[in-house]
Amino acid sequence: MYVILLGPPGVGKGTQGVLLAEGLGWERLVTGDLLRQARAEGTDLGRETQRFMDAGELVPDNVVIGMVKERLAALPGGTGVVFDGFPRTSAQASGLSMMLTALGMKIDQVVVLEAEDASLVQRIAGRRSCPSCGAVFNVVLAPPVEDGVCDKDGSALQHRTDDAPDTVQHRLDVYRTQTTPVIDYYEASRATVHHVDGEQGVDDVQTAVVSALSIA
Ligand code: AP5
Repeated sequence: MYVILLGPPGVGKGTQGVLLAEGLGWERLVTGDLLRQARAEGTDLGRETQRFMDAGELVPDNVVIGMVKERLAALPGGTGVVFDGFPRTSAQASGLSMMLTALGMKIDQVVVLEAEDASLVQRIAGRRSCPSCGAVFNVVLAPPVEDGVCDKDGSALQHRTDDAPDTVQHRLDVYRTQTTPVIDYYEASRATVHHVDGEQGVDDVQTAVVSALSIA
């Protein structure tokens, strides 16, 4: 099954994506993590895309679509996939459809997580992420057992460079103008689109997502 998690910055896509993928043994395909990894490794891709990410702008469609295509091609057939942070434009959604059609597959379900801007800003301000395993914590709302250390693999947690308040505001604007049309794209297609209240606590959001997808 192929599922897309959509929603604004900080709404909990990463948090729910980890829970969903771990619970089902699926693969997470997280374009933000792939781009951050490229940057940490100092690759050409990382250097090319750094300025877009730091400014809270979207990385050009052709770059992201190429990256996803490569990643999908490397997965064993039959692997369930949770897409997080992709697609983010109508061009990316149509690029993904073409990729999947070539594999005889399609997007089955789309989950749109929703929350108020004030909650998103507060969550992002406190977010700390693990650069190795992708686990996400929050200094106020979901702290790790040991301050600054990932509970899962002991790596030092990081505060993302694009989580500065001005950049976050811009990322919210970019979401509204460039990514919300992706919801319309899927609502007009054969995929089932679920809208889930992301204001609830992590466990309640997880229950709502699993129930919406009918995979409990
Ligand atoms: P990306 O990494 O995808 O960031 P994003 O979409 O802005 O989303 P976030 O990672 O900020 O938030 P999230 O929804 O995953 O929330 P999280 O679970 O962490 O993209 C970054 C950049 O990369 C983009 O700006 C762009 O430049 C580039 N990029 C990536 N993909 C691209 C693409 N397809 N095309 C072009 N460019 C692309 O949770 C946030 C915090 O809240 C955490 O601290 C968490 O603990 C807490 N929290 C989560 N859920 C709850 C809850 N229910 N209650 C209380 N706290 C919660």
